[in-house]
Parts: sequence; C-alpha cells; structure tokens
Amino acid sequence: MIELTLAEVAAAAGGELAGDPSAVVTGAVRTDSRALAAGDLFVALPGERVDGADFLPAAAAAGAAGALATRPAPGLPVVVVPDPVEALGRLAGAVHRRLVDGGLVTVGITGSSGKTSTKDLLGQVLAAAGPTVSPEGSFNNDIGLPLTVLSAGTGTRSLVLEMGARGPGHIARLCRIARPDIGVVLNVGSAHLGEFGSAEVIAASKGELVEALPAEGTAVLNADDPRVIGMAPRTAARVVTTGLGADADVRAVDVDLDDAARARFTLVAGGEQHPVALQVVGAHHVANALSAAAAALAAGMTPGAVAAALSAAGPRSRWRMEVSRRADGVTVVNDAYNANPESMRAALAALTRLPGRRRIAVLGAMGELGTGAEAEHTRLGRDVVRAGVDLLVSVGADAVGLHTGALAERSAGDGGGQEDGALDSVQHVPDREAALQLLTAELGADDVVLVKASRSYGLEQLAADLLADGQAS
Ligand SMILES: Nc1ncnc2c1ncn2[C@@H]1O[C@H](COP(=O)(O)OP(=O)(O)OP(=O)(O)O)[C@@H](O)[C@H]1O
Ligand SMILES: [Mg+2]
Repeated sequence: MIELTLAEVAAAAGGELAGDPSAVVTGAVRTDSRALAAGDLFVALPGERVDGADFLPAAAAAGAAGALATRPAPGLPVVVVPDPVEALGRLAGAVHRRLVDGGLVTVGITGSSGKTSTKDLLGQVLAAAGPTVSPEGSFNNDIGLPLTVLSAGTGTRSLVLEMGARGPGHIARLCRIARPDIGVVLNVGSAHLGEFGSAEVIAASKGELVEALPAEGTAVLNADDPRVIGMAPRTAARVVTTGLGADADVRAVDVDLDDAARARFTLVAGGEQHPVALQVVGAHHVANALSAAAAALAAGMTPGAVAAALSAAGPRSRWRMEVSRRADGVTVVNDAYNANPESMRAALAALTRLPGRRRIAVLGAMGELGTGAEAEHTRLGRDVVRAGVDLLVSVGADAVGLHTGALAERSAGDGGGQEDGALDSVQHVPDREAALQLLTAELGADDVVLVKASRSYGLEQLAADLLADGQAS
C-alpha cells in the first residue's frame, strides 16, 4: 500500500483509532495474520469459524504497523470499526482516488465466465506498456477487490480488477470502491443462476459495471453475446465492441486452433491487422483475448504491441485448462477451478481438439444452478456424447444427470453398441476415489483426460492424483 499513518487509515476507513496515530503502514494490507511482516496493516475479518480479532496479538508480535478490527488490542494501534470488510472497502476507495489523481488507469472486468482468464491476459499485455497490478487468482469480491486496489502503489500505471457478483448491486458496490475507466463485460451465462434467479437479472447486474463508467471512459462489450451488446444504451462511456463478426471494432479473423488447441488468429483493430498466437488452451480464449485487446487499446497501447503481448502471455492462475503430460504419455487437462454449462462446453470443445488415442471427460457437478440444475446436467451429458468424447466418467451423486443424459443420447444414436470386453463409454462413480481407481486401471499412452467440476467438488485433487499416478508408473 502507499505509505499512510494510522491516523490517515482511520480517517479513510471511518473508524476510531486506539493507539499511536503517527505509526506508519510501510508494507502490505493483509487479512492472514500468518503472512504478516513488519510494517503491514492487518485486517481482522470476522470469519465463520475464527474471529480475526483473536489474532491481533499475533499481528503485534509480527511487527504489524496497525490493524483494522472490531476491538482494540494492547501493543498495536487499531482502527476500531463495526464492519472490517466495509472499512477495508472505504480505505481502498480513498487510496484509489489518490492513485487516480496520480494518473492510474483502472480496468474492471466482469462476466459469467473468463474473468480471471481475461484479467491474466490483460495484466500481461498492459505490463508490456508499464507497471501493472493484476494479481494471480480470482480476487473478485468485496474483500479481494479492495486488497487488489491496496496492492497498487504510486508507481502503478494500470490496475486490472476482476469483478464478480452473486446478486444485484454487488458490481455497483465494487465500482464505488474503485471506479474503472475501462469496463469489460465478457458474457452473460448461467454461473450463479440459482442466486440470481434469471439470465435477465444476471445481465442487469453485470451491466452495473458499464453504468458506473464516466463519460470519458470506455465500455468494452462482446458483440457476440446479445445480452452484453444490449448493455450499450446503459453507459455514458464510449462503446467499443469485440467479436468475430465484421461489425465489431476489435475482431478476430482466420481463427484456427493448433494441435495443442491453442488459438491463432488475425487481430483486426484500428485499421490494422496483426497475427496473434495464444499460449492458453481452448477456442474460448479468443473472446477473452479480444476483450483484453480492446481494453489495452483503450488504455493507449498500439494494435501491434497488443498482438505481440497477447502472443507472449502464458497461463497464470491455476487449474484453468492446465495441460500436463505424464511420463507414460497420458495427458491430464486440469480445468477443475470451476464449472458452469458454458465453461463445460468450452472445455469439452478444447478436449475434442487435442490429439490423442481417446478423449476422456471426468466431470463432476456444476453447482449453484438453481431449479434448472438437473436439466442442465442432462443436457450437458447429451452434449458430451455428441461431442464425440470416448469415455465419460461422471463423479458424485450431484453429477448423475450427466450420466442419464449421456445414456439417453447414446441410445437415441447408435444404440450404444460396445465392443466385447471394452469398458462401457459412459460411467458413473460415487466419488473421487472411485474415479481415481477406475482411471488408474483404464488409462494408457496417448489418452487425454479432462477433469472439471464446480470448485466445491475439489476435482483438482483428482487431477493431481492422476498426475502423481503417472509419475509412479
Ligand atoms: N470466454 C469464456 N467462455 C466460456 N468459458 C470460459 C471462458 N473463459 C474461460 N472459460 C472457462 O471458465 C472457467 C473459469 O474461467 P475463469 O476462472 O477465467 O472465469 P471466472 O469468470 O474468473 O470465474 P469465477 O466466477 O469463478 O471467478 C475455466 O475453467 C474456463 O474453462
Ligand atoms: Mg475468477
């Protein structure tokens, strides 16, 4: 964080200071007391199981300069606030306004799928033009976003913020903490449909980002998603469109996948054309890359520099289409960070483009889909068979709809004839352990295995076990 006295922190966060007002925060703002170093500011969050305020003595022992907490503590200046999360947001807002006065450009990214992927691409592109803050991972809520803002310093030129929402008003709140100059809306899908209730409400909520933009700002809208381009009338900012169509301001032509399922295309923007060869896996990254390109152009980069930086950008955050090859020739694609119907289809499309003996999809359930969950799973199960996947292993009781759908599609197709002695191509297992057992027995050289489910099912562990398995054999 920029250097602030505890008195300044108290004024910004709206709290009562108990302790030395002249103590100075010289380090970072952290919520994990175990990570604290001398000069840091500790934000003691009230948790479900533990109360961060219990760790104020540990923060003092670690040499923290002070804390934001619900109660004072001996030996440590504490800004006492009723709600540390809200106070963190206020502090970040005040710091952000100071950085903006110093010329900081802020990009906000929202959408149902691909926020982290796009943030990672854009962070690397903007870093080619100047100091950029765009942390690894998915810091997109009312804790992660202010922490990201507070990790920027006076030398930071560009700040890339991921903005997530689980309901109306969430994005507007994040934009009040740090109003973006450039707002990117990727897509409106069915992530968190259960909480939102309908796709219309999701669209209305994601659109809060473009409503927050200033008139001199830029809204980057995906013209290939009708609900996203439909947000254009809701912004005072200049609208830049992205997509595959001829009308998009920033578009991709001649899109092709190489034999590692990485996209290559020609970036057309500002009357120029430049080749791009992405390092990240899956055709869905073309849309993410176009959004990142449009944001970087709005931030002042040239099309040539953007294309070169996109081509050099690698995967940054874990468990998103992470492709690893075992010593025995089995390829494991770990996309287990999260799952919704759109990202499942994107991952399956990439799987079927990867060369191999057999393409195997090991899929757990998609969470938070609300009342349509069962139908979504059945539909996806059908699509897995249609996509030509050689073996589907659905994992866990919540994923049984995938199995049902796949069986239905297969019997509607060729009747499901199975070669004698071969494993049935549609399998359901109760849990991760059973999946590992089945796959350990089944996998052979040149098989490609996609592992994906919603975060709460923890299938990244299965991917790790599969890789460890290969090392052992
Ligand atoms: N443009 C896209 N369209 C569809 N699926 C995508 C797209 N970009 C990424 N994905 C898929 O969505 C999954 C999540 O990607 P990513 O982490 O970038 O999204 P996110 O929006 O940050 O998710 P979260 O809401 O969990 O933070 C990945 O596993 C990837 O396969
Ligand atoms: Mg994310």
